[in-house]
Amino acid sequence: MSSVILVTGGRGLVGKAIEHIINTEPVGSRFGKKSNETWVFVSSSDADLRDPEQSRQLYEKYKPTHVIHLAALVGGLFKNMKYKLTFLRDNMLINDNVLHSSYEHKTQKVISCLSTCVFPDKVEYPLDETKIHSGLPHESNFGYAHAKRLVDVQNHAYKEQFGCNFTSAIPTNVFGPHDNFDLEDSHVIPGLIHKCYLAKKNGTPFVVSGTGKPLRQFIYSYDLAKLFIWMLREYDSVEPVILSVGEEEEVSIKTVADAIVKAIGFEGNYTFDTSKADGQFRKPASNKKLLTLMGGFQFTPFEQALKETVDWFVKNYDNARTGKKQAA
Ligand SMILES: NC(=O)c1ccc[n+]([C@@H]2O[C@H](COP(=O)([O-])OP(=O)(O)OC[C@H]3O[C@@H](n4cnc5c(N)ncnc54)[C@H](OP(=O)(O)O)[C@@H]3O)[C@@H](O)[C@H]2O)c1
Repeated sequence: MSSVILVTGGRGLVGKAIEHIINTEPVGSRFGKKSNETWVFVSSSDADLRDPEQSRQLYEKYKPTHVIHLAALVGGLFKNMKYKLTFLRDNMLINDNVLHSSYEHKTQKVISCLSTCVFPDKVEYPLDETKIHSGLPHESNFGYAHAKRLVDVQNHAYKEQFGCNFTSAIPTNVFGPHDNFDLEDSHVIPGLIHKCYLAKKNGTPFVVSGTGKPLRQFIYSYDLAKLFIWMLREYDSVEPVILSVGEEEEVSIKTVADAIVKAIGFEGNYTFDTSKADGQFRKPASNKKLLTLMGGFQFTPFEQALKETVDWFVKNYDNARTGKKQAA
């Protein structure tokens, strides 16, 4: 039987990584393309998934048997706080249209992408898959988190009422090629890579916001891509799975900045602006369920993944998503 795998949000950080892995791993291998598969990667220019009619037309066109649903309105802290309602509504509309079109077109399986941001603000660490709904999310991403939580609610409801095979994945902080490297509205790694690149180019100091002490779990987008492909083929429960490196692989922001300085070859003045807020000190998530189900997984060492990302950014500077430059 042939399969059509539709990847929504297919031209973003995670979508591009899945496309890379599916096209570079050996055909027929655990993470490589199967001979009976057609992969389709779409972005908002193929269909605005907030719109039910455009969503339906996309499903009519490709008739997907499987969907990896990545499309989302995503953004940094500032944007999330300023546009709470937009983050709530746009993501609710996108998710509802994807899940309902999948139901109507009898799609055999859907994996939607959540985020560790959806977890409660006040919670006992480490985070695990049972704690998603056990308290309110942090105020700063109230809209985004509630919209994402609803996907888990819908997955259960579609299963109970219609027997649908819908599930969700919960990645920690992702980084890699094709990320958003905007200086103001990006995640910590791409933002710092861009800053350090400019500091080297302009001979100015490289200043990292905060003390550098907070700890985070980062996952390389190419590793995450393999985990999505594993879920697609080998995981059939409605319950979500956290896709992350282990708690013992948390790295400090200083370790991240050191690795960026080394990868860029920056030799100028490098400091921390301790007047800037640090955010939460750590919010570890457990990958026990993932590793137990998969029987182990070899993550790319952090420094190697970071170097590959920096090399990609430097090589693709003119076309990378860097916000200001594109606006100029
Ligand atoms: N990045 C992280 O650290 C992280 C961590 C945890 C979870 N996640 C989740 O991972 C998923 C992918 O994130 P990402 O980092 O790859 O994001 P990204 O690079 O910003 O890509 C987002 C994708 O969604 C598409 N999209 C946005 N609005 C759309 C709409 N109205 N209709 C159709 N498509 C739309 C975008 O299309 P265009 O290309 O046309 O703009 C783009 O392809 C998201 O669900 C996100 O919540 C990300």
